[in-house]
Amino acid sequence: MNNGLEDVIAAETRLSDVDGEAGRLIIRGVSLDHLVTHATYEDTAALLLDGFFDRPISVSELKVQLGRARAEVFANVQAMDAMLEKLPPVDAMRALTARLADGEDFETALRLLAAPAVFLPAVLRLRKGETPIAPNPSLSQSADILAMLNGALPSKEQVAALDAYLVTISDHGLNASTFASRVIASTKAGLTSSVLAAVSALKGPLHGGAPGPVLDMLDDVGSEAHAETWLGEALDRGERLMGFGHRIYRVRDPRADALKDALKPLVATGQVDRDRIRLAEAVEQAALATLKERKPDRPLDVNVEFYTALLLEALGFPREAFTGVFAIGRTVGWIAHAREQALEGRLIRPRSVYVGPLPQAAA
Ligand code: ACO
Repeated sequence: MNNGLEDVIAAETRLSDVDGEAGRLIIRGVSLDHLVTHATYEDTAALLLDGFFDRPISVSELKVQLGRARAEVFANVQAMDAMLEKLPPVDAMRALTARLADGEDFETALRLLAAPAVFLPAVLRLRKGETPIAPNPSLSQSADILAMLNGALPSKEQVAALDAYLVTISDHGLNASTFASRVIASTKAGLTSSVLAAVSALKGPLHGGAPGPVLDMLDDVGSEAHAETWLGEALDRGERLMGFGHRIYRVRDPRADALKDALKPLVATGQVDRDRIRLAEAVEQAALATLKERKPDRPLDVNVEFYTALLLEALGFPREAFTGVFAIGRTVGWIAHAREQALEGRLIRPRSVYVGPLPQAAA
C-alpha cells in the first residue's frame, strides 16, 4: 500500500504537469512563468476549459459571460440568512455554493466560476457589518473582486497582482482538492457537487489553509533578529513551518517565485509595507537554513502558500479569507478536471486492505 497514495498515478490529464524534481509547472502546454506574465484570469480560464463543453470558448465572450454570471449569483447573497455570516468565510462560501443548481453544462460552470468571486467579498463585508456591493459585470473578474471587497475601483497594479495570483494557482496536477473533484465527477454527480467536495478538501491546513498561519508566524517572529530562534523553537515543539514543504516538489515551488514577482510592482509603487516584505524574506532564509540542518534527508523548500500570504495581505484580504481566495482561483482547475474525468475517465473506486479483526469462529 502507498500511504497517502504517494507516487500512485490515478488519472491521465491534458490540464497540467507538476515536475517536482525540476520545479516546473506546465498548464495546458504553457509554462507557468510565461502564463503568469502574459495571461489574465479570463485567458487562463478559457485555456483550461477549452474543449470540455458543447461550444468553443472565446476570451472576450467569457469575460462578458462571467460578468453576467456574477450579477446572477449575487441574488444568492441577497437571499442569504444571518446564520451563514457567523461561519468562517470559506464555510459560508461553501454553504452558499451548495444552493446553486447542479449540472454538467457550461452555464453551471459559469455560475461556479462567478460564485466564489461574489460570495467571498460579500461574506467579508457582512462580517464587518457592511452592506455587500453588487458586482459590476463590465469589470474583469479580478477588478470586480477587489471592487466588491473594498468598495472602490482598484489600482492597475492591484488588479495585475490578483490576476497573477489567480493564474498561478489555477491548476496544479492531482492535488487533494482536484482529486476530490475528480472522484465526485467520476460518479457523474455534477459540477456543483465536484466543486463542493474540492473546496472541503482545500480548507485543511495541509493544503489550502496554510497562508493564514504563515502571517501568524511572521507576526509571532516579529523581527529579523528573532527569526532563527523562533523557527528552531517551533521545530523543537514538533510543529511544521507553514509555507514550506510539498508532496511533489523537492526544489523551490515555481509558484512561489511567480507570486514574489507579482508583488514587486506593488512594492515599487508603495502599495505594500516594505518592512513586511523584508521580514518575510529574512524568515524565508532562516527557515530554509533551519530546515536543511534539522531535516537533512528531506529537501524542504518554500511552497506557494508563503508568498500567497504576503500578496493577499497586500491586496487587503483579511487572513481568514485566504483559503476562500484560493478557491476563487482553483475553481476553474476543479471544473476542467471534473469535465475531463466525466468525459474520459471511469468511476474511481480503489480498494483497501482489511486489517481489522476477523469474525469469531462459531463455537
Ligand atoms: N516543516 C517542518 N517539517 C516538515 C515540513 C514543514 N513545513 N513539511 C514536511 N516536514 C517534514 C516532516 O515532519 C517529515 O519529517 P520526518 O520524516 O522526520 O517525520 C518529512 O518532512 C516528510 O513529511 P510528510 O508529512 O511525509 O510530507 P508530505 O509530503 O505528506 O507533506 C505537506 C507535504 C503537507 C505540504 C508538508 O510539507 C506540510 O505540512 N507543510 C506545511 C503546511 C503547508 O505549507 N501546506 C501548504 C502546501 S501547498 C498546497 O497545498 C497548496
